[in-house]
Amino acid sequence: TTFPLAFSTTPSQAARDEAEREEILADPGFGKHFTDHMVQITWTVDGGWHDAEVVPYGPITLDPAASVLHYAQEIFEGLKAYRHADGSIWSFRPEANALRLQRSAERLALPQLSTEDFIESLRQLIAVDRSWVPSAHETSLYLRPFMYASESFLGVRSAHKVDYRVIASPAGTYFTGGIRPLSIWLSTDYTRAGRGGLGAAKTGGNYAASLLPQEEAYRNGCAQVLFLDSDEGKYIEELGGMNVFLVRHDGTLITPELRGTILEGITRESVIRLAKDRGHAVEERPISVQEWRDGVASGEITEVFACGTAAVITPIGVLKSRDFEIGDASAEPGALTMSLREELTDIQYGRKPDRHGWLTQL
Ligand code: COI
Repeated sequence: TTFPLAFSTTPSQAARDEAEREEILADPGFGKHFTDHMVQITWTVDGGWHDAEVVPYGPITLDPAASVLHYAQEIFEGLKAYRHADGSIWSFRPEANALRLQRSAERLALPQLSTEDFIESLRQLIAVDRSWVPSAHETSLYLRPFMYASESFLGVRSAHKVDYRVIASPAGTYFTGGIRPLSIWLSTDYTRAGRGGLGAAKTGGNYAASLLPQEEAYRNGCAQVLFLDSDEGKYIEELGGMNVFLVRHDGTLITPELRGTILEGITRESVIRLAKDRGHAVEERPISVQEWRDGVASGEITEVFACGTAAVITPIGVLKSRDFEIGDASAEPGALTMSLREELTDIQYGRKPDRHGWLTQL
């Protein structure tokens, strides 16, 4: 069926009042609070997508044999809704998230949700939960679409019943310290994804794989873990939940190329575009840890940053591993890092013209 889905809405009887909501929006943190409603759409092998609804936010009932609980057939997306000064609400490149969800769905043998239905699902949720989009500086409503195998069946095959949901969570900065340079931990015992694996898919398993090394990172005073390629253990890939860029003294940006093992970040792609527009060279290629270490030692590498929807653009100050530590935790954030961050957020919050047509009103 290629017809757009028709949604019905059941308003929540337990919606929080304005005072409760404002208290949450005043200090949202990240991923801790959720709005009053959620979207649900069901897919069956015989009937396709149907029963598109906005319903009160609440627990999901799953059969204990639902295959997602056993074989992890699930995918998700992350994007934000931004409130502009005139009160209007916008999303950033939602069609890119829709396309990535479709690519993830293909890899996880899940059904395709059309770009049109994906964007409509966001609009429908915002329509009832508009007041949950915060307006304070650098705050937004983080939207989390996800899809999972809900068929009760223990044989290992792709499910014949799948559910899609969207929940929303008011968000401030991802890292509790705000926009201070991060220390990151180089994982040498664990990798995230191998050739032909799930690395490019936005699927829970990749994040599950990051949790143990992420614990190691925390124990070593670091906010994120950095993974190396699984073939040689030589080249940097990405952080637990974000992509990584190095900046050379001549203004060239360097970032690991997409070869199926790292997430195809939409912020990553947008940073590349903005940097090229300014006339910076951008190299997408393998980057060895040795190149990074040598570059910092010689002064060739002047800035390093992480980027993602949740992290936006966050400077990296220190790279730490069992054998070495480079960088300076108290260094000021890099100038190019911060100006790219400002340009990106200026576009997202409607403070600068949207020259690339990246914004979609919700
Ligand atoms: C993002 O939305 O940026 C993610 O990759 C998910 C997670 C780090 C919150």
